Amino acid sequence: MTTLANKSSEERTSLLQDWVKQYELVSGNRLSLDLSRGKPAADQLALSDALEDAIDGDYRAKDGTDVRNYGGLRGLPETRALGAELLDTPAAQVMAGGNSSLALMHLVVNTALEKGLWQDGRAWQKADAPTLITPVPGYDRHFTLTEALGIKMVAVDMTDDGPNMDQVRSLVTHDPNIKGIWNVPKYSNPTGCTYSGAVVDQMAQLPNDAAADDFVILWDNAYAVHDLEFPGTGLASIYEASVKHNTEDHVIQFASTSKITFAGAGIAFIGSGSTVLDSLENELQHMTIGPDKVNQLRHSRFLAGRIEQHMRAHAELLKPKFDVVLDTLERELGGLGIAEWTRPKGGYFVSLDVGPGLAKTVIQLAENVGLTLTPAGATFPHGKDPEDRNVRIAPTFAALDELTEAMLILTLCIKLATAQGMHD
Ligand SMILES: Cc1ncc(COP(=O)(O)O)c(C=O)c1O
Repeated sequence: MTTLANKSSEERTSLLQDWVKQYELVSGNRLSLDLSRGKPAADQLALSDALEDAIDGDYRAKDGTDVRNYGGLRGLPETRALGAELLDTPAAQVMAGGNSSLALMHLVVNTALEKGLWQDGRAWQKADAPTLITPVPGYDRHFTLTEALGIKMVAVDMTDDGPNMDQVRSLVTHDPNIKGIWNVPKYSNPTGCTYSGAVVDQMAQLPNDAAADDFVILWDNAYAVHDLEFPGTGLASIYEASVKHNTEDHVIQFASTSKITFAGAGIAFIGSGSTVLDSLENELQHMTIGPDKVNQLRHSRFLAGRIEQHMRAHAELLKPKFDVVLDTLERELGGLGIAEWTRPKGGYFVSLDVGPGLAKTVIQLAENVGLTLTPAGATFPHGKDPEDRNVRIAPTFAALDELTEAMLILTLCIKLATAQGMHD
C-alpha cells in the first residue's frame, strides 16, 4: 500500500473529504466510549469471587496464626510464598502488605529519601538534587509519585528490550544525584515490552557502577504473570542477578494481585535484601500494627498452586480485546505510514505513536465525539511528551462491542488529524 505521504495530492484530498464526512457522521451519534481505563472489567473480577468462600470460618494460617488479630508486619508465611512466586525470589526476601503496591513504592521512595534504606546514614535528601531515571513512555503514577516527593526525573528511551542501557549507564556512572531507576520489566506499561536477559543482568550490576552509593533499582513487576498467550514471555530473575552481583540490598521489587484478583482488594508485595526489609518494617511500625491478614490468608488459599490456571482464564477474556485493538489498527492504518504501535503479549496496554505533534489533536478530536483517551503526555514525566506523539490504549475495561466502535473512531481521528496536517 502507498503511504499517505506518497499518495498524490488529489488522492489525499479525496481521502480527507471522505474522513471528514465519516467524522461528521460519528459526531451526530452522542457516544460515550472510554479507552483510558487500565483496570479489569467486571467479568475478570468475577473470576475471583470465590475468594469470599476461602475463609469459611477457618481463620488459622498454616503456622497457627489467628489472622483476625493484630501483628505480623512482614505478612503471613504462605502469603510471602505467594509473593515469592510472583517475584521469582525466595519467600524469606518478601514482605506481604496491604492492597496496593503503589503505596509500598511510596513507602520505599520516601524512606530512601528521608531516612535511607540501610540504617547507616545514607539518605537521598543529603544530595543536592536527588533524581530518578524514568524510562519513557512509562507508568504515569511512577512520575506523579516521584514528583510529589520533590524528586527530579530524567528520561531515557524505552526499546523493545527494556531501557536504553547506554543512556542509563552514562547518567548513572557520572552523576551522584542519580539515585535510582524505575522499571516495569515485564509487559511494561504502556509499551508491553519485556526486558531481555542482558538488560536484567546489567540492571542488577548497575548499583556497583553508580556514582551514588545509595543507588537503587525500583523493579515494579506489576504484570509478572499477566500473559495473553501460554507459555508467556520469560523474564530473567533480577533476584538471581542481584545475588550474582552482590546488589540484593539495592534491588527493590514490587508486585501485587491487583490485576489477578480484585484490583481494589488484593495483596501487594515487596522483595529485597534483609537490610532493606528491616528498614521498611521499622518505618511501617509507625503506621500500622499489621496488614489485613484475613485477606492475605484468603488470597493464599485461593491462588496457591493455581496462578497460571487463573491467569489463563483472564487471558481468555482479554485476548479477544487485544485482538480487536491490533486488528483494527492494522486494517485501518496498516501501510499508511502514519502511526506505529506495539503488539504486546501480555499486560494491560497498547502503546501507539502518531505523527510528531499530533497526539493532542487526535485525543481532542476523539473527545469531541465522545471517546475518552488517556490524556496526551500522561506517559511522560510532568505530563509532557516532548514530541506529542504517544497515545496509550487500555483495552481491558470496555466491552468488546464498545472497544470495536472506539477503535474505529480512534483510527479515524488519526487519519483525519494526519491528513489535515498534511493539507494545511
Ligand atoms: C506498572 C504498574 N504498577 C503498579 C500499578 C498499581 O498497582 P497496585 O494496584 O498494586 O497499587 C499499576 C496499575 O495500573 C501499574 O500499571
